[in-house]
Amino acid sequence: MNDVRGIKQLAYLYKTLRREDFRILHAIERGMVYLEDITTFTKMDLKDASYFLGRLSKIKLVEYHEERYNLKYSGLDMLSLGYLYENNAIKAVGDQIGYGKESDVFESIGNGDEECVLKVHREGISFKNVLKNRPGMSKEDWVKISKKSAFREQTALKRLYPYVSVPKPIASNRHVNVMGRIDGCQLNRADLEDPGWFLDKILDEVKKSYERGIIHGDLSKYNVLVSDGEVFLIDWPQYVETGFWGSEDILKRDIKNIIDHFSRKYSLNTDLEEAFKRITRR
Ligand SMILES: Nc1ncnc2c1ncn2[C@@H]1O[C@H](COP(=O)(O)OP(=O)(O)OP(=O)(O)O)[C@@H](O)[C@H]1O
Ligand SMILES: [Mg+2]
Repeated sequence: MNDVRGIKQLAYLYKTLRREDFRILHAIERGMVYLEDITTFTKMDLKDASYFLGRLSKIKLVEYHEERYNLKYSGLDMLSLGYLYENNAIKAVGDQIGYGKESDVFESIGNGDEECVLKVHREGISFKNVLKNRPGMSKEDWVKISKKSAFREQTALKRLYPYVSVPKPIASNRHVNVMGRIDGCQLNRADLEDPGWFLDKILDEVKKSYERGIIHGDLSKYNVLVSDGEVFLIDWPQYVETGFWGSEDILKRDIKNIIDHFSRKYSLNTDLEEAFKRITRR
């Protein structure tokens, strides 16, 4: 499972790949796993296809097992990276800046030289025990889940930006989202001089997103970034729509996570019901 490589290394590798490599990666992604199917799909002859498959296996973008070729996670990352480069969404990638539970976040430079990040969704794959707990789940399912997560996050960002303080959605492909880079620090690591002001500001953003029909669903001290006079709500794949049965409970849990943090760290006590009313009142 552990075949995930740094995006910088892949970006370097990208420059050495040829059109044929990408044709083969595409074919495997589309479900052609046997050599004959790959040659038919790519219209390559057997000798060329075998040569490129050998190369792709050697650089570990593809794996060969019992006569079947499969895409490794790095192969999928490469397809996304190729798409983002070719479509001028980004022009460079850099170091990893975020190690989330379910994603890798890398710094990146957009085509207009703006600072952005690549968020590579890896729902579950980094956790061997998740696989252990769900033995029936194949790698393909994880790919699907990661793509769905990326899609959901991008959908939320597009609906919220710029009305709510969230990263700017820039581009998206497969399981990767490109978004504006925020210069801030996670709320849990910050020592705020004026915590009351920040708490107010966070609850305001929660209200604004509620007014646009969206509840974060996983709001916590880890998914809020703060900087001088600004707060940003990040990490939106688990958002829920307002107005559904149970959605208000999810909103309450979000608010509780935030006010509990301010209460524990800054002894700033806020009534949950009042905060909830303030957000849901039109
Ligand atoms: N737009 C951004 N600008 C700057 N840093 C970011 C941005 N998005 C994410 N990060 C960094 O990457 C980290 C992980 O991002 P995020 O919370 O979105 O992913 P995650 O995998 O869902 O995390 P977790 O599951 O641990 O909550 C963040 O805590 C933050 O440090
Ligand atoms: Mg997070």
